[in-house]
Amino acid sequence: MNSFELHNPTKILFGAGKVKQLAELIEPYGNRILFVYGEGSIKRTGLYDEVLVQLNGIEASVYELSGVEPNPKLSKVNEGIEICKQEKIDFILAVGGGSVIDTGKAIAAGALYNGNVWDFIEYRAVIRDALPVGAVLTLAATGSEMNSGAVITDWDRKLKRSMVSKWLFPKFSILDPKLTLTVSPEQTVNGIIDMMSHVFEQYFSKTTDTPLQERFAESLLLTIIENGEKVITDSKNYEARANLLLAGTYALNGTLSTGVVSDWSSHSIEHELSAYYDIAHGKGLAVIFPNWMKYVYLERVDRFVQYATRVWNIDPVGKSDEQIALEGIEATRTYFKRIGAPTTLRELGVGNEKFDLMTEAAVKFGPIGTFKKLNKADIRSILESSL
Ligand code: NZQ
Ligand code: ZN
Repeated sequence: MNSFELHNPTKILFGAGKVKQLAELIEPYGNRILFVYGEGSIKRTGLYDEVLVQLNGIEASVYELSGVEPNPKLSKVNEGIEICKQEKIDFILAVGGGSVIDTGKAIAAGALYNGNVWDFIEYRAVIRDALPVGAVLTLAATGSEMNSGAVITDWDRKLKRSMVSKWLFPKFSILDPKLTLTVSPEQTVNGIIDMMSHVFEQYFSKTTDTPLQERFAESLLLTIIENGEKVITDSKNYEARANLLLAGTYALNGTLSTGVVSDWSSHSIEHELSAYYDIAHGKGLAVIFPNWMKYVYLERVDRFVQYATRVWNIDPVGKSDEQIALEGIEATRTYFKRIGAPTTLRELGVGNEKFDLMTEAAVKFGPIGTFKKLNKADIRSILESSL
């Protein structure tokens, strides 16, 4: 195991009705609020009204930034930064899925910066301060509710990239499983794939002697697989939604990567797909991940055997390690298919026309990944096998 430091300051309020505590959570930060949300789901579910009741309770001056799209765009972030600067906003409240929370975080960093917020992404300018952000999460998927990252797309330049800073941890996040009962089957599946992928990125690691991290990862995968299947057949199952929500948060709140080197190359490849085709993050991952696994599994066949036997119950008797590993990878693909995720790029309307552009962009700062370092040709092979 490697040495590590862990500090996660986000306060989590988990459970039905926790939105009622919103006013008391925000009050210490001031009452000029930027209320960020998406394209309307919170109005349809009534959450929008509930939030306004809370904000009225602290006599807040509320400025709204609505219409945040999936794969959130830089233009919307800049709109929010402008409001923060003009209206002297004290606090950013993000209510929605990962796209809304990421937009809120990027606005928070840009609002206290004199340059272009994209500097934090493209030039790795260091974030030295940010407005406080709080979140009410409505979709189990990204883990943004309890982590320090934000992923933003500059649509004009076809760049989907992340910024990371300790300043981007939400001050608090409200996780009410009830708020996720209305998530469509399609978005639910995207979320399941995303959280499983987060576990994979940290589990398929070259670091050895990490039994706790491995078992923690495996228990998260088992919980996601089991409860994922439940919510697909019974979308209003509160307990299954609750288990999924908690698993999604733990999958990317820093816990799994303690003491291990994580990979993130499948995410990088997927971000190129989303940047060029605006496809949902979870859909791109569903296609890429099993093909990445197949491309890299010989780097550490023992970890893939462990994955196959512990997570998918593959019977090892009479089989070679390679065979067991491959059966585990196939079980992953079969599960993705069973819950309704795409398994080929063609299903997403993606051909090989832009592979040159995407692979070039993916390696702009050098080869990606740590489990197996991937250069342009490697990424192209993975994309070709995903067609
Ligand atoms: O916009 P509204 O109307 O709210 O609808 C959204 C959106 O259309 C809908 N939705 C959300 N909650 C709902 C609901 N519909 C009905 N009932 C509810 N309760 O779902 C759609 C998708 O929302 P989005 O926020 O885009 O989904 P998700 O949470 O999966 O976020 C995806 C984004 O996060 C990034 C992804 O790349 C992608 O841009 N990621 C962020 C990460 C992070 N910050 O740590 C890590 C991830 O790996 C990921 O890259
Ligand atoms: Zn992800």
